[in-house]
Amino acid sequence: MNFELSIVKTNDIEADLELIFVIGNNFKHRFVADKKLLKKAGFSGEQDTTCLLVGKNRLYVGAMSLQSTALRTAAASALKTLIGKKYKSIKVATYTNEGCTYSIRAMVEGFILGAYRFETYKSKKNENKIKYISISLDEYDNRDIDIEKASLQVHKAQIIADATNFTRDIVNTTPEDCYPKVMASIAKGMAADVGLTCKVLKPKELRKEKMETLLAVGRASRHRSRVIHLTHKPKNAKLTVTLVGKGLTYDSGGLSLKPGLSMVTMKSDKSGGSAVIGIMKAVAELDLPIEVHGFVGAVENMIGGDAYKPDDVLVAKNGKTIEIRNTDAEGRLVLADVLCYAQQEVKSNYLFDFATLTGASVVAVGNYTSSIMGHNKKVQKLVVDAAHNAGEFATALDFNPYLRKTINSQIADICNISNVRYGGAITAGLFLSEFVNKKHKEKWAHIDIAGPAFIEHAWGENPYGSSGAGVRLMVKLLEDLSKK
Ligand code: BES
Ligand code: ZN
Ligand code: ZN
Repeated sequence: MNFELSIVKTNDIEADLELIFVIGNNFKHRFVADKKLLKKAGFSGEQDTTCLLVGKNRLYVGAMSLQSTALRTAAASALKTLIGKKYKSIKVATYTNEGCTYSIRAMVEGFILGAYRFETYKSKKNENKIKYISISLDEYDNRDIDIEKASLQVHKAQIIADATNFTRDIVNTTPEDCYPKVMASIAKGMAADVGLTCKVLKPKELRKEKMETLLAVGRASRHRSRVIHLTHKPKNAKLTVTLVGKGLTYDSGGLSLKPGLSMVTMKSDKSGGSAVIGIMKAVAELDLPIEVHGFVGAVENMIGGDAYKPDDVLVAKNGKTIEIRNTDAEGRLVLADVLCYAQQEVKSNYLFDFATLTGASVVAVGNYTSSIMGHNKKVQKLVVDAAHNAGEFATALDFNPYLRKTINSQIADICNISNVRYGGAITAGLFLSEFVNKKHKEKWAHIDIAGPAFIEHAWGENPYGSSGAGVRLMVKLLEDLSKK
């Protein structure tokens, strides 16, 4: 999708279709040329509703305000409406919240995210035909918009939304086509394209690094495990951030097998790792002036004669022993070793991990929201605020010492599941905390994206399938940290 910024008014721009946002049901605004027709068509102007006036070559979309979140989802809805239609180019005016060009970024993100289709496995493709979008700097409230600032925001939006779609593609790919080795080669290919370094650890090196817990989870799979390490290291970086992602290319549950229905969508258990790969792509393309490392544990959790078992005791990289009582709580085992490895390799100012870690997170906060855990309230808040500013939902969950006791083991240092029924998202976070060393404890946040990572009923800027959760959130946070 190509974007062009122009100082001429939309009337003087040629395009197949004009897109007009109706803001806060204000049909009296000068941009709304078809008030009567829209009323006749029953168009209320509610958020994300659309009305295509074919004869007029105009598409109207409702947005409740000029806030970025409203513009982003409205822009996405407009593009979703055009799927299957023949229009190739659109023109649109500029809508900003009191002149802030961040609104332009939100709108462009919405266009690219809303136009996304995953059609790899469809014989008949039905992709979005929109190739050109002309944005006129004629602003909704007649504000003067600096074209340089606006085009910088368009550029950033393209990088961030493309990275999100890149993550979506990885997650949506079937477990037959995307297994650990493939995930590693996707990361390598991307790294070569954007100028990141990429190191991939194979089982021999993983054994040497004593990542036996991660290896145990992948043991019954015909696909060997991998750990991926991507690095963005600009000169004179002021700050270092480490990202770690759960990349379970499939989670059958292992011997503690998942029930049939719960297993469907478990190709999405690689969403955390895929988000890390997408974030690293954006970080490189934005050339952020901070050092960023992305680690992914790419593993498949399967059953078989060689599978790891409930009753096993595994030894993690940091020497802690783990009693296994459920092989479906495998993500935390993979992350335990990758967290240890990441901290051994890099001393960082912030450490974040992304994982579709628990169904309990979805029960606690719903399908739309990520759960943010950690020992430092300020770090948790950084993540929650960045999520909201980037158009994602996130909320903090508090640790407490009573839940910590529920993962004590009678026979090992710790147990991989809790002995109580409730609070599963938090006990999983507390388990991870055992593998975050003292130096990083206050700098760490765990981001459970189990709710929003995979969408079964399209919402907002997300179609069916992977949402790319975590990418926009973390890129925004890294941008904010770059400015400090
Ligand atoms: N990958 C799942 C968590 C998950 C569930 C992600 C639903 C997305 C949607 C994870 O590995 C898992 O199976 N967790 C168990 C933990 C339990 C055995 C303590 C769960 O949530 O049921
Ligand atoms: Zn599992
Ligand atoms: Zn899992």
